[in-house]
Amino acid sequence: MSPSMVKAIETKEDDNLGSQYQKGVKHLCENGINKVPKKYILPLSDRPNMNDGELNNVQKQNLKLPIIDFAELHGSNRPQVLKSLANACEQYGFFQLVNHGIPSDVISSMIDVSTRFFELPFEERAKYMSSDMHSPVRYGTSFNQSKDEVFCWRDFLKLMCNPISDVVPHWPSSPVDFRRLVAIYAKETKYLFLMIMVAILESLGLVGTTENKTEEDDNIIKEFQDGSQLMVVNCYPPCPEPNLTLGMPPHSDYGFLTLLLQDEVEGLQIQYQDKWITVQPIANSFVVNVGDHLEIFSNGKYKSVLHRVSVNSMKSRISVASLHSLPFKRMVRPSPKLINEENPRHYKDTDFSTFLEYISSCDPKKKNFLESRKIS
Ligand code: OGA
Ligand code: NI
Repeated sequence: MSPSMVKAIETKEDDNLGSQYQKGVKHLCENGINKVPKKYILPLSDRPNMNDGELNNVQKQNLKLPIIDFAELHGSNRPQVLKSLANACEQYGFFQLVNHGIPSDVISSMIDVSTRFFELPFEERAKYMSSDMHSPVRYGTSFNQSKDEVFCWRDFLKLMCNPISDVVPHWPSSPVDFRRLVAIYAKETKYLFLMIMVAILESLGLVGTTENKTEEDDNIIKEFQDGSQLMVVNCYPPCPEPNLTLGMPPHSDYGFLTLLLQDEVEGLQIQYQDKWITVQPIANSFVVNVGDHLEIFSNGKYKSVLHRVSVNSMKSRISVASLHSLPFKRMVRPSPKLINEENPRHYKDTDFSTFLEYISSCDPKKKNFLESRKIS
């Protein structure tokens, strides 16, 4: 067969499969595959383990993310913990939060009900497919399904969480306990976010200590109380050739903070000193990371760091990312208290609709959005 004939056949196969890919990775796997289809194969330089070889494994053993003990943060050691928190946000943009106080059954139920959602028949999950970025519920696949040239090995369910009583009726009605369990989890993570955010504001010197809060401090905190929360439930099915693709391409998160819950399967990798390091899951903990809005708000002091997800051939992986920011319509700008002659303003004002416009109009990979907000 001539090369052009091979090409023609491949293209035809791809066309036939084209609509198939839109149905997601889980659906693809359910039909039985033993190779990664071309649609998911990354160029050599973007593949995991390819550009940094053995180094990846060495780093994996040697480097641990800073651990913040939430209970200690609320004891007599608070000033020290605030310093560790500031250091983690400056150096890594990431930390692991332990002793966070969310009951372990709330956490295990969230993972469990998410697993059961992705085990529903495809037709049931497909009811929530939508290309409307503003929809309170959106089921989909890859990173940006309508734009990605190469698809990534992930299916997701995105849920808006505020105002909670307005959005819950739009959430999936199956499994029957889904709305109840996810709503409990959403409220618990929102409260936890607020507590961490207050500590972060304190670590930046933007509000007084617990005993010394002014009315102005309370007003800043109130804005976060009224803020936005978006929950992303990610499902990464086992992948027959995990070195050829990624569960999520390198990206940064848009909000102030992301609270990530992962099951016991590793996959999250963060960029640290130009290398990718794998985050070791700690049972009953959260991985917390600085998003673009906090980098802007802190005028560059705290870093929104690139991260990605690798997949594996053995186990399916579930993660739940809870993204928190100010109210959707509120402008995000560097805090005036962090701008001075030595450290001028580094970012333009931005808001959520600017972000949505941006990601629907161009390739959302890497830190493009944050870059577009920088004042050079
Ligand atoms: C995200 C994310 C990481 C993971 O949802 O933004 O980075 O481990 N998830 O699923
Ligand atoms: Ni992310």
